[in-house]
Order: sequence, then structure tokens, then C-alpha cells
Amino acid sequence: MSYITDNIIEEVRNKFDILEVISSYIDLKKTGRNYVGLCPFHSEKTPSFTVSPEKQIFHCFGCQSGGNIFSFIMQIENITFPEAVRLLGRKAGLNIDPQPATPKEKKEARTRELFFQINLAAQEYFQAVLWKNIEGKEALAYLHKRGLVKESIEEFGLGFARDRWDGLTGELRGRGFDLDMAVKVGLLGQKTPGRYYDYFRGRIIFPILDTQGRVVGFGGRSLGDTEPKYLNSPETPVFNKRKILYGLNRALPQIRREKEVVLVEGYMDVLLLHQAGIQNTVAPLGTSLTADQVSYIRGRVEKIYLVFDADAGGQKAALRSLELLRKEGCALQVSELPSGMDPADYVVENGEKAFREAILNKARSVVDYQLYTIKKDLDLQKEEGRVTYWKEARKILARIEEPLEREEYLKKIAAEINVSLEVLRGDLEKNIEESYLKEKKAFPQEKKSAGISPKEQVEQELLSGILQYPQHAEEVWRHIGPADFTSEIYRQVADCLYQIHREGKELETAELISFFPEPQMHKVIMDMAIPAFQEEEAKVLKTIRSCLKKMKALHWSEERKSLIRSIKNGAAKEDISAALKRIQILKKWEEELYRSGEGEDLHG
Ligand code: CTP
Ligand code: MN
Repeated sequence: MSYITDNIIEEVRNKFDILEVISSYIDLKKTGRNYVGLCPFHSEKTPSFTVSPEKQIFHCFGCQSGGNIFSFIMQIENITFPEAVRLLGRKAGLNIDPQPATPKEKKEARTRELFFQINLAAQEYFQAVLWKNIEGKEALAYLHKRGLVKESIEEFGLGFARDRWDGLTGELRGRGFDLDMAVKVGLLGQKTPGRYYDYFRGRIIFPILDTQGRVVGFGGRSLGDTEPKYLNSPETPVFNKRKILYGLNRALPQIRREKEVVLVEGYMDVLLLHQAGIQNTVAPLGTSLTADQVSYIRGRVEKIYLVFDADAGGQKAALRSLELLRKEGCALQVSELPSGMDPADYVVENGEKAFREAILNKARSVVDYQLYTIKKDLDLQKEEGRVTYWKEARKILARIEEPLEREEYLKKIAAEINVSLEVLRGDLEKNIEESYLKEKKAFPQEKKSAGISPKEQVEQELLSGILQYPQHAEEVWRHIGPADFTSEIYRQVADCLYQIHREGKELETAELISFFPEPQMHKVIMDMAIPAFQEEEAKVLKTIRSCLKKMKALHWSEERKSLIRSIKNGAAKEDISAALKRIQILKKWEEELYRSGEGEDLHG
């Protein structure tokens, strides 16, 4: 557990309403007492992510993630429990300075902190070089030539890495940083132990920030034609390219306001579109878009515009991203730029209004875009072209789930290639059947609580009983104590529940969760707190009592087995006779227990 006291954790938690916090990340709609939305932690098209303002917890019925406000922040920001408490604490204006718990955690936290510090120092250095050093002149001129004004260059913290081996190395050494750490964060290289050199040389530097505004990595663009054109920081513990979107930290306010996001390919595109006033623009980091990146924005927006370069590479990337976004269930529009242009060029030449009107507003639906890319290279005047077009097009139509939507496209294509609607429909249906048969075996499996022992099952059931029906806690603690729980995880939960009960406090799942910094524990608790189905109130007590019995019986039978083992292993004579006596008693208790009716007292 962390050094942040439980009181402070509760204070922080009470400062926030889980609904408000989660709403700032994803869209939620009211249904009865709860709110639902698309889960930001797994792919889904129908909302199974549920927030209960009453209980101050969230839960996803699709991926089983859940917990209180801290669990949510930990998962969505990819941070630890103490970091989540600190993050919210800071927002609430509370002054907490929690120390992480274990020595290992402490060390990791220190390392991360140091990485951020080194990155920040480097960013400041590169920026100073760009504006103040003679070597930055050419780079600055280049940026201006591309259409960037001073303010944008400053806001994005751009810099320049001098074309030498000991620029940043000298700077970091001078400021007393541990250069081995600078190697680990990807800013320096090392020829031989103790001999360091600059990783970025002669490059315009684009600092990459996370959503909390910390510098996590860098992109370096060469001036002139040095290859590669871009050099990026390697993956580090603070820099996961698959999870970060360039510009997201600056784009979030507008993304929240407009509920739309513009997805482009390059750093330059992000910069120039932001400068033009289209500030909901972000880009992946040189790799194709990933599911992690999508999940981060998906829940927050109603529409995603894909505006990729009008070259072969851009189109390929667009089609790849498209597949992914389609799978993730995003409402997507694909824009096309005049040939040879990238979004940066276009907006510099034509301005914001034209970009919005001629590019964004003219965006095509995914299906239209896919059909269009097929059609583009074919001659529909010729029979051959029309046949190829239909063969490719029907694959796309087969994936449309909405029959009405499918019908619309079918009509369009029928007109385009001048074939009767009935013929196309028949052929398409045949195709859908075939592909359905191919896909059918991939059916998701239930994976809940597989492989747990009968004892763990009973312990879990009992805790679920207390969590869901706290009014029966008394009955449980009358018969057993937390020490009777043999599974380490459940004993910890039992400990907390027992304490809450003894202090006569009301049980709040959201509060209970805060006792545990480990995200796995949040899941364990939530799994128990959210009923798989609603028990009839009358049955609850019966179930609890039968669990208590089972728990006792399992204890006794275990004791019995171990006594028998000790006899077999040749215990001393007096021990054997004592053991036999005990075995008799245990057996009697067990029999009684199984015979006894409800409500009868249990042996203790
Ligand atoms: N990229 C990369 N490594 C490369 C080339 C590209 O990481 N060797 C990534 C960068 O994130 C870059 C994006 O892919 O921003 C798009 O590439 P490109 O269109 O070539 O770069 P732009 O940023 O658009 O740069 P410019 O317009 O100045 O050519
Ligand atoms: Mn470009």
C-alpha cells in the first residue's frame, strides 16, 4: 500500500464526481439510474460501459474492467495508483506528495520522473538552440518557409539539434544529469562505456508530449535530404509509440467541444492545421494507427476525419487505418486531398475555410471511399472494368451489417455498372453466406472464474454476498473472521470488509477499492460487487448461510485430510490417538452441518 494515508485518498475521492470525470473523457448517456457509453478499454459497437453516480463506480460488462474513479484514471492515463491519486489531488488543489510503496515501485517512479526531467531539459536546450544559436537559423527559416509563424513554433516547443556529437551531451553533463539515464531515454548514444554522443544531430526537433503535458519523446526531421527524413526516440518506459498521438495534449479541448477529431499523418500537418484554427487535429507517430490510439479518442468523439496524404503511401495508410477504425466501430469520414498534396500544404495554400469546406465537408463515408479507391483505377466503360469493380465491391458490401445501408450502396452500384438490382442482390447474398460460413467458428468464449478451487469459489461467493448485500455482513462475521479466508487476495478484501463492519461504517464499494493500489484488485472487487444476475432477496441469506457452511466444511475436511496424512506418515503413538479423536469430532461436525436446517448455529 502507499504512504498516502487513507484519509487523504478519501478526501481526494470525495472531491470528484465519477460521472463528471469520466464524462470528460467519453460520451455517456443516461439510462435509468446509470449512465452508459462506449468502453474506452476494449472494442465495442454497443455501449456496455456503465457508470453509477450513486455508487461512484464504473463497470464494463464487455471487458470486465471496472472500479472507482482512481481505477478509471489509472487505466485511461496508464498510470499507477499513487499517480492517479496525485493527479486528481493536484486538480483539486490538494497538496499531497505521496511516496510510492515498495522499493521497486519507488525506484520505477524515480526513474520515470528522471526520464521526464531529462526530456524536459533536452527540449529546453533544443528550443534555445533553434531561437538563439546561429546553427538554428537555417531550421527556423525552413519552418517559416513551410508557413509556420513564431507563436506556433513556440507553442509546440520545436527546437533544433545541432549538427555535432557533443551538443546535448555537453549540456546534460553540464547540468549534472546521469548520462546513462539519458542513453536509456534515447537522447544519447554510447560508443564505449563512458563515451556518449548526441542521438539527434542536425535535425528539427518535435517534442512529443503526453496528455499531462510531459515530454515523453522526440521526433527529429532532417534538414535537406539526409536520410532518414525522420528519426524518432526509441521506445522507452515513458514513450510508447503505439499509445501516443501527436498533438493530443493540445487538441483535447477542441476535441471535447466539437466531438470531432481530424486524423493526419505528419507532425507538420498537425502543426499547420492547429495554426489554421483546426485544433482538433492529431497524428499517430509514423506507424500506422493502432487500436490503443483509437480507443483513446473513440469514446470522446462522434466523428473522425481521416485526412491522409494524397500519395500512394498515404492512401495505403488510410486504407489500413480505415479497416481498424471500422472494426472499432468509429463513425468515420475519409477526405481526399488534391493529388501530391499533404494537409499541411493544402491549409497553408488555401486557408482554414477552404480546408473545412473542400476537404472536411466533402469527406466520404468509409464504404464510399473504399468503392472510390477501387473504381479509380478501372474503366467502367468496359465490361472487364465493371466485372472487376463488382467483384471487389461486393466484398465491401458484404461487411455492411445494416441491411438498409447495404441496399443503398447496392442501388448506387447497380446504376453505375448498369446491372439490375436483383441480379446484384442475389449474387451478394450468396457471397455473404459463404463468408459467414468461413467466419463462424470465431465465437467468443466465456472466460469467467475458470480454474479456481472450490474453496476460492466459496470465499468469492461470500465476499460477493457482503459486497452486494451489506445488510447481511453481520451474519457472516458472526460465524467467521477474515483469517478464515485462505486465498491471499480474498483475505485482504475480507480484512477490509471486516474492519468497515467493526467500525460500524457504511460499506461503499468505491471506498473499498481505494484500499488497494493494484489494478488487478480493483477488477477482483468489481467482479464481486457487480451481480451477474439479481438474486431474490429471500434467497440471499440462504445462499450466504450455505456458503458459510461450505466454508466450514471445507476447513474441517482439509484438517481431516491432513491428520490422516500425518498418521500415514507414521506419527508418534499418542499423536495418532489424539488425531483419531479429532478426526471423529470433525466428521461429526460435518455430518451435523449437512443435516442442520437454515439458521441453526454453526460450530465455531
Ligand atoms: N515518419 C517517420 N519516419 C520517417 C518518415 C516519416 O517517423 N522516416 C513519420 C513522421 O511522424 C512524419 C509522418 O511519418 O511526421 C509522416 O511522414 P511525412 O508525410 O513524410 O512527413 P511530414 O511530417 O508530413 O513532413 P514534411 O511535410 O515536412 O515532409
Ligand atoms: Mn507531409
